[in-house]
Amino acid sequence: MPSYRSPRGTRDLLPDERAAFSRLEGLARDMASDYGYQAIETPLFEQAEVFERGVGAVTDVVEKELFRVQAGRGDSERERWALRPEPTAGIVRAWVQHGMRTWPQPVRLTLTGPMFRYDRPQAGRYRQFWQFDVEVIGDPGPAVDAEIVELALAYLRRAGLGDVRVLLNSIGDAACRPAYVERLAAYFRDHEADLPTLERERLATNPLRLLDSKDERMAALIADAPRINEWLCGPCAEHFERVQAHLAAVGVEPVLEPTLVRGLDYYTRTAFELYRPSAHGQQQALGGGGRYDGLVELLGGPPTPGIGFGIGLDRVVRALAEEGVTSPGPSTPDVVVVGADPEDTIRRLRVVTDLRRAGVAARADLGSRKLGKQLESAAREGAHFAVICGDEMDGGHVVVRDLDAGTQRQVATADLARELARARAQHRHGPAAG
Ligand code: HAM
Repeated sequence: MPSYRSPRGTRDLLPDERAAFSRLEGLARDMASDYGYQAIETPLFEQAEVFERGVGAVTDVVEKELFRVQAGRGDSERERWALRPEPTAGIVRAWVQHGMRTWPQPVRLTLTGPMFRYDRPQAGRYRQFWQFDVEVIGDPGPAVDAEIVELALAYLRRAGLGDVRVLLNSIGDAACRPAYVERLAAYFRDHEADLPTLERERLATNPLRLLDSKDERMAALIADAPRINEWLCGPCAEHFERVQAHLAAVGVEPVLEPTLVRGLDYYTRTAFELYRPSAHGQQQALGGGGRYDGLVELLGGPPTPGIGFGIGLDRVVRALAEEGVTSPGPSTPDVVVVGADPEDTIRRLRVVTDLRRAGVAARADLGSRKLGKQLESAAREGAHFAVICGDEMDGGHVVVRDLDAGTQRQVATADLARELARARAQHRHGPAAG
């Protein structure tokens, strides 16, 4: 057993899995950019209050799962910090801090990176996980709501998941939700004796959260609870209708799910989650999002609507593996510089450095194995060309060996970069006619 291991609930992404993540990150960057989103980075930690106010003090994410950061002893900055459990609150904090209300509206932002939740680890639930997140701040919808849902779905499809279901709900706003929450609280009070301790506490402080309780003892009670869709006010009901009409126009057919309320307090109106229907019994969303029309104000800005989603990349990678969708492994240069004299690492390092300076991706075998072993391992690692540094170098030449064809020829060192570029192009496309 090794003495040290990655902390519980975290894992190392070894090169194969890192390559799968990189593909998803690249797709996220390209699609977000194509849809008009600009990349932003926020710190991995924030003042804890950003999450307590933004996500909500009485939520699992803040009450149970926040990684609070202990500053070093003697630190005069006695701020309370926490690692970000999600990016939305930090992005909205940045929007307010940098006066983005004076930018052309709406502001479309995207961020992909690690998030931290001190959750009970299990398959698909980690303490450090990655999200692809997009946010549109300054557009009340309903068209943009549909555009956001369509982007989330299109992303998962392009990633390779053909069969994804969108669950959609509206959870009302400050005008209609209080009456519903009162009704919900009355319902749960009638069943107070059956509630687990945490849920009984939350009944007093934040009854809506009982609907997304992870406690199995709550499932039957939740199924029979009053539904929010019957309590929507006129403007919320109309907004919800129009979101659905816009979704229909772009061929997205959501499943209406009146019990879907999401686990974070900032949501208003549109709420959605994405699932793989084929993943039997695995009640884990690939992603989720919704509208948060009160969040900017809650974090000190002017009343401004917003909407966004987060997709869990760890879960997408896992789902792709389960569906048998393979992604290309880590890429390595297809040119390897080897040497006839194993000890002469100076020549090899010089040649590979010159190649890199000339823009050719190349690696060198800098160990002291015999030439045969160097060539063997170059071929095993998938290289197509070996540049052999031998006695010919005294006359200004090296030998370029095509490892697939088994052919080789002398090339002037001065022409090497150009020759390799040509050979690689031919290798990719086949020899040019004539
Ligand atoms: P969320 O539903 O809490 O929403 O997280 C979004 C996605 O992150 C989940 O659907 C899941 O795929 C992934 N995820 C969450 N927790 C874990 C975990 N412990 N391990 C692995 N994956 C996880 C949000 O975070 C909102 N900020 C989304 C949003 C953006 N709403 C509006 N804008």
